[in-house]
Amino acid sequence: MKRSIRFRLNGRPTTLETDGDRTLLWVLRSDLEATGTKYGCGVGLCGSCTVVVDGEAVRSCQTPLSAVDGKEVVTIEGLAADDGRLHPLQQAFLDHGGYQCGYCTPGMIMNAYALLRSQPHPTRQQILDAMDGNLCRCSAYQRIVTAIEGVAAWGDAGDGRRSLRDPGPESGQAPSQTSGEASAGVVGGSTGGAR
Ligand code: FES
Ligand code: FES
Repeated sequence: MKRSIRFRLNGRPTTLETDGDRTLLWVLRSDLEATGTKYGCGVGLCGSCTVVVDGEAVRSCQTPLSAVDGKEVVTIEGLAADDGRLHPLQQAFLDHGGYQCGYCTPGMIMNAYALLRSQPHPTRQQILDAMDGNLCRCSAYQRIVTAIEGVAAWGDAGDGRRSLRDPGPESGQAPSQTSGEASAGVVGGSTGGAR
């Protein structure tokens, strides 16, 4: 049954008149052109569809749209700064080669984003535990964990808006930059793998 559902998507007020039983994943992809969020297994097992709702990582393939009514939804499209600078996690994935095909990358980054928001300095074991349910068919796991560790060591990446050139609170150094060519179209914006 159609109903009015309101939420904020990447900071923008969003209202839909639709069936609240539809999954958040398909509404994002089909109605809102937020195709950075990926369909993998469709049954809650792979994590490729992970988005963040009110600070919590959720599997959008298992989340009815009605569950986000009145909430704040962040997808991979919402991480880069308004001026186009990548979120530190996106940059770290580039710097450390934390992807191959990139299909799992948006879900990996959103899961890591939720982790760092709640726990800015997780240990390696805590990162492993938090990322355990996100699968990468290309098996880029070591590089993914190294990328997240790098941001965690630098600290305070959960806000998603800090300049990479700002000194970190502890290390005094930001993650290294890569070329603009390498940054383009991989994990920024609505990309991060095939549509
Ligand atoms: S597509 Fe949602 S967990 Fe796999
Ligand atoms: S990089 Fe290909 S699935 Fe993870």
